[in-house]
Amino acid sequence: MILNYSRADGENYTLSISFSDPFWGEISANFKHGEITRTVKADISVSANEEFLLSCQNIEFLSDDYTVDVTCKSKDISKTKHIKYISGYPQLSSDTVKMAVAEMTAEEKCALFVARGAERHMAATTFVVERLGIPTIYMADGPAGLRVDVPTVGYPSGTTLANTWDRDAMQKVTAFMGDDCNGFGVDVLLAPGMNIQKNILNGRNFEYFSEDPYLTGMMAAHYTLGAQSEGVGVCLKHYSTNNQESSRMTVSSVVTERALREIYLKGYDYAVEKGAPYTVMTAYNRINGVCAPNAKDLITDVLKGEFGFDGFVMSDWGAHGGKDMMIASGNDMYCGSPDPAVDANIVKEALTSDKITEKQLDLCCENILSVVARSQAMNRTEISYTISNKEEKLQTVREVGADGMVLMKNDIDTLPMSTGKKIALFGNASYTTEHCGYGAGYVIVSHVVTVKEGLENADFRLDGDVASLYTDCKRHPHILNQEANPTDDQFEIVITEDIAQNAAKNNDCAIFTISRMTMEGADHTDIKGDLRLNDREAEAVKNISRAFRKAGKKFIVLINTGNPIEMSSWADMADAILYIGLSGEQIGNSTADILTGKVNPSGKLASTWPLAFADTPCSDHYPNSEWCFYYDDIYVGYRYYTTFDIPTMYEFGYGLSYTKFDYTDFNVNKTDEGYVLSVKVTNSGKLAGREAVQFYVSKPDGKNEHPMLELVGFAKTPLLASQDSIVVTATVTDKELMTYFTPDAQWMIEQGEYTFSVGASVKDIRMTQKIVIEKEIVVRRVKNVSPLPMELDTITKKNPKRCVDHGVNLALEKTVYASGAEEGFDAIYAVDGSHYTRWSAIGTQGEHYWFTVDLGETTDISKVVLRWESNSSGQFDVMISDDSIEWNKIKECKYEPVNTIELGITARYVKIIGKAEGFFSLYELAVY
Ligand code: BGC
Repeated sequence: MILNYSRADGENYTLSISFSDPFWGEISANFKHGEITRTVKADISVSANEEFLLSCQNIEFLSDDYTVDVTCKSKDISKTKHIKYISGYPQLSSDTVKMAVAEMTAEEKCALFVARGAERHMAATTFVVERLGIPTIYMADGPAGLRVDVPTVGYPSGTTLANTWDRDAMQKVTAFMGDDCNGFGVDVLLAPGMNIQKNILNGRNFEYFSEDPYLTGMMAAHYTLGAQSEGVGVCLKHYSTNNQESSRMTVSSVVTERALREIYLKGYDYAVEKGAPYTVMTAYNRINGVCAPNAKDLITDVLKGEFGFDGFVMSDWGAHGGKDMMIASGNDMYCGSPDPAVDANIVKEALTSDKITEKQLDLCCENILSVVARSQAMNRTEISYTISNKEEKLQTVREVGADGMVLMKNDIDTLPMSTGKKIALFGNASYTTEHCGYGAGYVIVSHVVTVKEGLENADFRLDGDVASLYTDCKRHPHILNQEANPTDDQFEIVITEDIAQNAAKNNDCAIFTISRMTMEGADHTDIKGDLRLNDREAEAVKNISRAFRKAGKKFIVLINTGNPIEMSSWADMADAILYIGLSGEQIGNSTADILTGKVNPSGKLASTWPLAFADTPCSDHYPNSEWCFYYDDIYVGYRYYTTFDIPTMYEFGYGLSYTKFDYTDFNVNKTDEGYVLSVKVTNSGKLAGREAVQFYVSKPDGKNEHPMLELVGFAKTPLLASQDSIVVTATVTDKELMTYFTPDAQWMIEQGEYTFSVGASVKDIRMTQKIVIEKEIVVRRVKNVSPLPMELDTITKKNPKRCVDHGVNLALEKTVYASGAEEGFDAIYAVDGSHYTRWSAIGTQGEHYWFTVDLGETTDISKVVLRWESNSSGQFDVMISDDSIEWNKIKECKYEPVNTIELGITARYVKIIGKAEGFFSLYELAVY
């Protein structure tokens, strides 16, 4: 039953009612004012959505405050909706959302569409309409806890939470976050971040869960269930393909519909189905050329239609895309307005000039008010602005933080180690440990327990001489902070052979912590000091390793980052490696709990750690400023590495334990709900521990080709004592088995043989079972969405190689000359290995810009790779020389975002020169 509007005219009252299905039965309205009650009844028969007007005469108290209970009764239904009137106005409740909107003026509707700023560092509030009982709701970030201007609780970041593979832990943590929000009067937590970790360099990966859509979706669903169990709404963000921070407001992800649906949207489907989130935030970027908040097909048809999302959709803060288009597309709220009155006026003008219809705006308001009506704001009295049960919450941060840590290496049982040992604790991050990444996802905390403090709390003894090296140590600088260039690594302490040898004499073991700041608005780069160790770190690892091994003592490395780092060049120098991630404000205690064995590590990687950036499927095309081509298509993360047999450093689902688990009795049973997979897991080692069990499927190639393995279920065991067993299960439904066949716009299950497998990681498959699906099954027909704006030559099994490991860049940090440069954009930045810095020059009439690199000696050159930010002259020549006097033009090129120019020549100097006047802006020129 839908209450559309009501009108009271003197003592007469009319109510408009409709039903989404045909209805015949009785309607009654029960009016109450103090002790007085009046009832009006009617027998009605209406078709779906037909309006019925219930007219009630001679109700004498309609100018006072009163309530009406409207009941519809038929053979199968009996439903009552409650309307409260104050001063003649219906008050907002979940029953009266449409009525409230019908009462609003156009100005009020425009104002409700535009979110306004909020105090205390919260992100936004909504417009209030007092006479209709519409309160404001408060929204705040997200995702690792409540972000306001005072300390709250710093929970583990998204990646650490996902690395637990523990739905219950996720829900427990986010219920606490919900409670924190209630303490601060926050109605919607702007989280979880659930973009796919497509690229290991994405600066916001720490906020996200995984490279896998199933794991992402499940984690997001349980994040939602936890927070919303406290009455606090969540916001799934950022919808969708917001997979790089570089040029995030403008870049367009170019992605096939199949990959969009199977990889990038699928997690939302799970989260909406299982969690029923209150809100969703669209992304900043464009998707196949269309600004995310303007992508009507993805918002209205897919999210609200196919997935059944019933809350409201908001834009990201200050996102591009016309407000009129947002309204017409189903993006219900615009956020981040610098001047809400001005923006509301823009909407009003769009309404007046018929760019949008009142019905479209009404729909936005209804969606917003449906969330307002179910929010805590409806009943809020006082706000304490405090965190309750902090001790209990911190204990959970500590436990879940430890459960999300991943033991990557543990040679000859280096770990666990007994407390009381004397440790030489190296690395800035041991003393200034990061608990979280930066930007909207940063949570202010009263205190971060550093690794040093955690070890001290666990009764380890720390070498004072080593510790004194770090008295004035600085945090690892962010890559964007050019003055603190991490390649120069001026902040990491130099650990000479002498220091290391001395430490090895005086201590039982050494620990070195490596950290990277990570943040919203900036991506990482495949350079020293970022993805790779900087020189001082590399030197320290080498010297400590040698000295301690010589002394027969162990060397442990801790990794305190939100993203993978390059490890293949140094991992063998460590005896044990623990990925401590960004696991919240108790990070030091959680670390110590793992090192001592108080907690047996059970975290596993929710995303692959590749051997090198060049091994990742889109490394040649990242980051990009205008178009970001998703060549990897459905082969994201482990789907790529397993299918194309690319070796990795640590695979998806990988993580060691101090005990061993055996898998037996793997069964597949077909039931009405789907295929129930079950396996018996036995702790066959000596210590109690938990195991994250993973279920995969290999689908037969048919209309579509499929990755080697896809995750279709997972289960985290409880703590199993030595020799204890448990049977864990996962139910595989159509949703996991289906694939999207774009030409027919349908989700279908291919016919043929399917292999289900169970494993401890994507590479550690323990058992398999086959089933056959005799006939293709069409699960759902939909509508094609988000057409590609250009051809996209994606990776397929027949066309596997998109990225090439070019080898050593001969131009790196070599001498360069250029025709000119803007201030701060010197030519040297095009050969510094960073995609952040660039050489750029403002074009003036008649000038053809040029750029030369001197390789130092005449060398073999196989190719030159140029990554542009822009090139207004469109075409350029490549010239070479041995003496910089005589030049040979060897190629004429047309500008592309990435130009790979095959040469096969010898030369000392390489020059590019524009064919027309204009400017260049070049991230990097590499010579191989
Ligand atoms: C971020 C969102 C965040 C919003 C409000 C934006 O810049 O992308 O994730 O929720 O700001 O702080």
